[in-house]
Amino acid sequence: MKGIVLAGGTGSRLFPLTKITNKHLLPIFDKPMIYYPIQTLVEAGITDLMIVTGGRNSGDFLRLLANGKEFGLKHINYTYQEGEGGIAEALALTEHFAEGKKICVILGDNIIEGSIKEAVRDFEGQERGAKILLKEVADAERFGVAEIEGDRIVGIEEKPARPKSSYAVTGIYMYDGTVFDKTRTLKPSARGELEITDVNNGYIQEGTMTFNYLNGWWTDAGTFDSLLRAAQLVHGTTHKRAPALAAAGREIRK
Ligand code: DAU
Repeated sequence: MKGIVLAGGTGSRLFPLTKITNKHLLPIFDKPMIYYPIQTLVEAGITDLMIVTGGRNSGDFLRLLANGKEFGLKHINYTYQEGEGGIAEALALTEHFAEGKKICVILGDNIIEGSIKEAVRDFEGQERGAKILLKEVADAERFGVAEIEGDRIVGIEEKPARPKSSYAVTGIYMYDGTVFDKTRTLKPSARGELEITDVNNGYIQEGTMTFNYLNGWWTDAGTFDSLLRAAQLVHGTTHKRAPALAAAGREIRK
């Protein structure tokens, strides 16, 4: 399966932090934000990657990531989104890269503790359609929210004032080759964007959408609060995994 990291948009919710750099290059504890979604894909065995960048600082992605040696990659593909017409617009730019095959898409500001390996394996065995990953959250109104009946997902609402469940649709999506037929039919939403939620609802209407629950913590990092939370979560996990290393670091800094 090919992988796509969406890192376009202007990050206006993080002004002035994003005035002179791209949101996805901001630090999350000890690494630039974009490192985390790339790691998530690579850890799941997805190594043929395209990154969609945008804004005035897109050249910095190439300077930072080059051909992805740090991730054990030989090459990374890049493309450029003009403006910020939405997640589905950014995705539509990758049609030539996908070549009609299955893809795994991750938003450049989504950071997870666990692994998507199992979900990717499940989707490889799925004949057609799409798969999304859900996570229970306390502030569902900030996200796309899934309405679930039994073991079926019957609809997704984007940032509803009164969420029908506490399950957020995370920014990790798996699609078959028909996704680009769906992006072509989209109309801009009230916020002027082509919405990924409309793409996902297209699959739900077709009856080909499946979902898994994501294990471990998940956060986005597109607001001041979530940016801080992401750093705290990564910091906590890093220390939990390597307490001796962290202690050693503290010794050195003393
Ligand atoms: O984080 C998960 C949520 O992401 C989902 O629950 C929502 O359904 C989905 O719409 C999205 O919501 P946000 O409003 O938080 O997305 P945001 O505009 O912050 O964009 C998230 C990432 O998508 C951003 O870091 C880069 C990429 N993006 C976004 C836009 C608007 C692009 O590549 N191009 C774009 O034009």
